[in-house]
Amino acid sequence: KPADAFFRDNAQVALTYDDITLATRYSEVLPRMTNPETSLSESLQLSVPIVSADMDTVTESRMAIAMANNGGIGLIHYNMSEREQVKQVARVKNNIHGLIQDPISVKPGMHIAEVLDMMDAKGFKFSTFPVVDESGKLLGLLPGRAVKQRYRDRTVLEAMQPREQVFTLRQSQLEGDPIAAADRFFNDHLGIHKLLVVDDGDHLAGLFTLSDIERITGESRDNVKPARDSQFRLLCGAAVSAPRTPEGIIDRDKLLGHVTALVEEGVDAIAVSTAHGHTAGVGEAVRLLRGEFPGLTLIAGNVTSGEGVRFLAEAGANAIKVGQGPGSICTTRIVAGVGIPQLTALYVASREAAKAGVKIIADGGITKSGDMVKALTLADAVMCGGLLAGCPEAPGKIMEINGKLYKQYRGMGSLEAMKAGSAARYGHSNNIRNAKVAAEGVEAVKEVSDSVDQVLAQFIGGIQSGMGYLGARNLPELRERARYIRVSPAGQRESAPHDVIEVKTTQEHS
Ligand code: XMP
Repeated sequence: KPADAFFRDNAQVALTYDDITLATRYSEVLPRMTNPETSLSESLQLSVPIVSADMDTVTESRMAIAMANNGGIGLIHYNMSEREQVKQVARVKNNIHGLIQDPISVKPGMHIAEVLDMMDAKGFKFSTFPVVDESGKLLGLLPGRAVKQRYRDRTVLEAMQPREQVFTLRQSQLEGDPIAAADRFFNDHLGIHKLLVVDDGDHLAGLFTLSDIERITGESRDNVKPARDSQFRLLCGAAVSAPRTPEGIIDRDKLLGHVTALVEEGVDAIAVSTAHGHTAGVGEAVRLLRGEFPGLTLIAGNVTSGEGVRFLAEAGANAIKVGQGPGSICTTRIVAGVGIPQLTALYVASREAAKAGVKIIADGGITKSGDMVKALTLADAVMCGGLLAGCPEAPGKIMEINGKLYKQYRGMGSLEAMKAGSAARYGHSNNIRNAKVAAEGVEAVKEVSDSVDQVLAQFIGGIQSGMGYLGARNLPELRERARYIRVSPAGQRESAPHDVIEVKTTQEHS
């Protein structure tokens, strides 16, 4: 295979993304004809090969919902109580995609002036509001055309469409495929843009908008196919550590109790997620979970060697996370002096994964969509932390520094994250408050970015461009057709914009 020759020639030197480029190939494939779908196990299919990292500044339920809506999957981190993590998974699994569950409503006694003030204060761009009484019972709908300065002295009651003129669906009509029900409704009622959902007592229970449904059904975004389970629920993963008893052995009861609770909520994948996965503890945790949950997708890691892949595959993992120290907030290589550059790690892992029949996830160090294309020539999916940490869907406060907005992003091996619970991931006791432990990650900030929808649209577009250049219709073809070229430092400089003063245009979003 061409990859074998390339990596044999570069055997003494380990390489990462910027060290290589991919050669173009004859192509009959346009980017929009490509299909980047992948799978992490026989039962877990994704329409895009992107996983959000199990980090406490990246993936909680909001991020996981956004990832699955865009065809990927999020792994809920474990720096929280088990109960809270189970709740977060339930939130993703019970999310009715496209249904705004707590729509902003108004009361009949309000004046239009108050509605306008509220919109102003909260920055709402929409102006149609359901009208409800104190108990939440639906009384009518205040249409946008009534919410104007010239009507400021009217009351909502005077301006609203009364209940009998408002289109609604009952919650029970959404069973099965809620999107299809809403889609049917909008097709049958052309010109109607809002559909309210009520419970059996006629209390407001949600709101669909035509634009959301159009987006979801793909009428306005060709390539987005949400990642769903067989019951039409969004996919969601959760990370666990390999917990130990005070005697230092794997705490089987704790691990099984925790994972059982996650499975009962419908979790689609469990990741036994540690900094060093080629260890007795992780092997035992994976074996234990495989024995108890034969059909569950198990992800485990991290490793950077063929031996590590084989070890976790034999323990029963379906997908293996590869990467030690490439992450943007990682200091493992500096602190511990271990870890190998990511592309070589992926290469050795991919060769063993092919033999063992398992998948690999390229975890860490991805800074641009071109890195994703390179990673996907060897891996089945990529895992991103830093690239998603600035999105509004990532947990964490927004802060202003010198007039610019930033979000916190920290390594799970940073001191603060370890204090919050992730110490076990780095082989330390969870009670590290007074202990001298070496942090293996930094605390940082990321500039606030666009929403996950917009960020992923850019990445997926990049992946599809790469596939088009290589003439690959799907990821197996991308792996087959990849030809690697080593790049010199001058070549690297040439690859990025140079000798120009870049003008940043700000995109306007509605
Ligand atoms: P990116 O580059 O996407 O990397 O920001 C995210 C990945 O980095 C790993 N990770 C760490 N590695 N020390 C490390 O050496 C840390 O504190 C740390 N925190 C996260 C992890 O694999 C994640 O998915």
